[in-house]
Amino acid sequence: MSRAAPEPKANMGKPEPRVDGRLKVTGEARYGSDFPVSNPTFAYLVTSSIAKGEIRGMDLSDAKAVPGVLDIFTHENTGKLKNLKFGAGGSGPTTSIQDFGPKIQHDGQIVAMVVADSFEAAREAAYKVKVAYTAEKPSATFDSPGVTEQDAVKAGGGEPKKFPQAGDAEAAYSSAEVKLDVEYGTPTQHHNPIELFTTTALWRDDELTIYEPSQFMYGLKNGIAQKLGIAPEKVHAVSPFVGGAFGSKGQLSPRTALVAFAAKKLNRPVKLVATRDQGFTIQTYRAETHHRIRMGAQKDGKITSFNHEGWEISSRPDPYSVAGVEDSGRLYSFGSVKTQVTIVHADRNTPGFMRSPPVVPYIYALESAIDELAVKLNMDPIELRRINDSMTDATGKQWSSRSLMKCYDEAAESFGWSKRTPQPGSMRDGEWLIGWGCASAVYPTHVGAAAARVRFFAEGKAQVQIAAHEIGTGTYTIIAQMVAERLAIPVSSVNVEMGDSNFPPSPVAGGSNQTASCCSVVLKACDSINAKLNGGQPAAAPETVGRTAADGDGEKLADRFAKLGVGAIEEYAEFLPPGAKPDTIKKLYAGTPFLTGGSKGEKLMYATGAEFVEVRINAFTKEIRVPRMVGAFAAGRIMNTRTAHSQYMGAMIWGLSSALHEATEIDKRHARYVNDNLADYLIPVNADVPRVDVIMVSEEDNFVNPVGVKGIGELGNVGTAAAVANAVYHATGVRVRQLPIRLEKLLSV
Ligand code: MOS
Repeated sequence: MSRAAPEPKANMGKPEPRVDGRLKVTGEARYGSDFPVSNPTFAYLVTSSIAKGEIRGMDLSDAKAVPGVLDIFTHENTGKLKNLKFGAGGSGPTTSIQDFGPKIQHDGQIVAMVVADSFEAAREAAYKVKVAYTAEKPSATFDSPGVTEQDAVKAGGGEPKKFPQAGDAEAAYSSAEVKLDVEYGTPTQHHNPIELFTTTALWRDDELTIYEPSQFMYGLKNGIAQKLGIAPEKVHAVSPFVGGAFGSKGQLSPRTALVAFAAKKLNRPVKLVATRDQGFTIQTYRAETHHRIRMGAQKDGKITSFNHEGWEISSRPDPYSVAGVEDSGRLYSFGSVKTQVTIVHADRNTPGFMRSPPVVPYIYALESAIDELAVKLNMDPIELRRINDSMTDATGKQWSSRSLMKCYDEAAESFGWSKRTPQPGSMRDGEWLIGWGCASAVYPTHVGAAAARVRFFAEGKAQVQIAAHEIGTGTYTIIAQMVAERLAIPVSSVNVEMGDSNFPPSPVAGGSNQTASCCSVVLKACDSINAKLNGGQPAAAPETVGRTAADGDGEKLADRFAKLGVGAIEEYAEFLPPGAKPDTIKKLYAGTPFLTGGSKGEKLMYATGAEFVEVRINAFTKEIRVPRMVGAFAAGRIMNTRTAHSQYMGAMIWGLSSALHEATEIDKRHARYVNDNLADYLIPVNADVPRVDVIMVSEEDNFVNPVGVKGIGELGNVGTAAAVANAVYHATGVRVRQLPIRLEKLLSV
């Protein structure tokens, strides 16, 4: 055991090393663009240099003259591609699916794709494509003239959304003993997974194979079929490994069908690897948000009124909405709640999920406001949270389990919080001002419908097939652990196959649902195998299934198979969470996932945590350093303490990044991203992250799903930014309410 592989506590699985670790470190793991195809061609995208207007004409003559160029695809010769509605592709929004023009909806929109015999020729020709535009003045963001507003509850069609409302929050605010009225802002951020956005398309007669990093195999398969107007069974999507996604590879992308279309026309495989800067505009991003929070409290700390209004940027055509009021409005036992979200449409590409999408900006605002309220009340911020801790939200809904204050207690103890003196600027080490801050982490526990196939062989080996996704989280490993546990065989005897649309469907790998969903369905399949092995008798205790062979006590496994007259048992299972309909699995096969949990079910299902941060700010230069962070998290059953540790630690570092580093800068004159590369888009490096301590708090919750798992991929970076901001206040007395916190914001001190 080590820091990276913590000793499991109650309800935690062993820190098994990643079963795909060797493949990854030896370069054997195949990512989308690694698949060899014979006689390939290479594509290069041409993207719009204006954000709003229309293509007047295109001059392709110089580009076509480049030796090796095979064809150039534009809106003039791709009319057969169908436009899909917002939300098509299964997992939510699509990016500018109106696609290639002539209408220009955002800077960096794909306007053409050159295909050539070599990457170099395609690139050279792409630079020679001349596009004439009729440009209009774009609206870039919140304060730009020309943006339009829309109430998020009515956005996206369908049933109006219901954000939490309880009691008369306005009246309670007016009559409150202590009032807080504050505004916060978060910037545009881009995921920047190290693996770029790639697509390789290959046709065999009328059957298409797509190699593309994806968080949703069945969304990709079905979405592409719709775009091309072909039957979904003609499409095979392959993505066994994803080199980082964080939400950016869950939606159907505008490039995919274009690449497939080109491959069909040229009758050769086409490979596209979009560039880093193109990735800023051809995919989604985290929308910038603005918040106003008004809170009323009694002098004893009881919060009587919580009003959270959010504003979020989206594109002109698409009503993507973050809407984290769903969760901020329920985190504490507010006496009354009023929430509202407004979508602000600008001339931008459509935003989308980015790690912990609904809660990250909204909980940053809430947890900053809680700290501000604690200061007003002259109260310790942990005690303020304790006073308002509750198993019931203001609408009367019960939490299935909640260990928030346990997380605070364990993290505070480890951090040494009791030594903190509350007065800002009171803790100083020479020329360094020390600040200690904390904040809550919370993330909805999602679970989705899924299907899987498990085969158990007489020699005690098992094989699993499920179209799930390895986005770096450890899915291969934890599915193998689940099967090993239920069939009582070693993890090394389980072979897990994923990332292929020929396997049974799993939901989009988003909203941290994958472990819960996949393990629930795999468990079901294993238990059916167990029952069959037991000759139709009730299933044996799972820990005895495969053990009989090894232990010699009882019947040998091979003999039990022989008695059944088979060499293997294969079980296909479908798992339906509460609220699923009879056609839920059919819809999943057709590319529409069903997810429930969070605030949607009978009870509130959430994972919780508490994060503590020390900042050191140089009194003269205002340089901000974070020497240590401590996070304690409770998330039901932990499948593997090693992969969990990695998820939590990585997420906390990302939280630090959003607090101090990250922002996509926008040139407001042109509605264009400025720092669209990894040199200028700031992220923390090792020197920025000296010490991160992760504490896993034991929690058991058998309500959330059959395996008792609460997803953890997104929990850890919720709350970090507020903890840093609160620590910066404690160090300096300056409350920075717009992220990121950079030293220029502290220079006035
Ligand atoms: Mo995650 S941003 O919900 O893919």
